[in-house]
Amino acid sequence: MAYSEKVMDHFANPRNVGEMKDANGVGEVGNPKCGDIMRMYIKVENGVIQDVSFMTFGCGAAIATSSMATELIKGKSVEDALKLTNKAVMEALDGLPPVKVHCSVLAEQAIKAAVADYYRRQGIDPTPFVGEI
Ligand code: FES
Ligand code: FES
Repeated sequence: MAYSEKVMDHFANPRNVGEMKDANGVGEVGNPKCGDIMRMYIKVENGVIQDVSFMTFGCGAAIATSSMATELIKGKSVEDALKLTNKAVMEALDGLPPVKVHCSVLAEQAIKAAVADYYRRQGIDPTPFVGEI
């Protein structure tokens, strides 16, 4: 199966790439299947994700899914960001080849890790919201 045009676009022109100096939530996760890693930065104000960026040492599918995921959570509440599934990100990209589905999990987990970090910095235990990560 070939990559969709949207996947190719987000791979070639990823949105929201880079480090964020004034982030108030940072999450880093690794993919046990391939060893690729991803870091997600969020800036939350009044419970809303005002800005988000990511950096990844990962494959093209990981880059494309992270790029799309950042677009999907920007401007959303942290609660809504936590509801974003890798399936929804893949659908927004018009699908991924089956062997690349595991790559999309990285973005979902990186968002959860960043939100968990944000909660911790606010002195809130993230476990009830995010689960164990
Ligand atoms: Fe990273 Fe597939 S293992 S490209
Ligand atoms: Fe590692 Fe895609 S192969 S995230």
